[in-house]
Amino acid sequence: MPATPVAIASDHAGVALKGALIEELRALGHEVLDLGTEGPGSVDYPDFGQAMAETIAAGRAARGVIVCGTGIGISIAANRHPKVRAAVCHDATSTRLAREHNDANVLALGARLIGVEVAKECLKTFLETDFAGGERHERRVAKLG
Ligand code: RB5
Repeated sequence: MPATPVAIASDHAGVALKGALIEELRALGHEVLDLGTEGPGSVDYPDFGQAMAETIAAGRAARGVIVCGTGIGISIAANRHPKVRAAVCHDATSTRLAREHNDANVLALGARLIGVEVAKECLKTFLETDFAGGERHERRVAKLG
């Protein structure tokens, strides 16, 4: 993957998992761009999905990770930008296919749905799996933009 930082953002429901994933990213040797939130106080997930979308669109990061209670709300927010392909993933298989088939550039996780070890497995798979490419997948991904 490109040598830009990995951006990460969450709402209050995802902030603890975000902390664990930041540690994991650093342990894997990645620079991290933390877009917040910073604590357990209640915030609105669309603001953090939007911050991720702006970061990806501006090229400040090539890949991002977003976390809310389900991964759903924050991914809907991020996906409103045409440059973002955020995929809500629940395990290594959904993450691998989101990379191989959809060239997902943002991984969305639900902190209330999966445990920290599964989330770390998703993170590693997200970073290590290449887009499968080929005419069929490239044509479909191009239509997403
Ligand atoms: C916050 O309570 C919760 O609604 C949010 O984290 C997320 O799950 C929304 O999709």
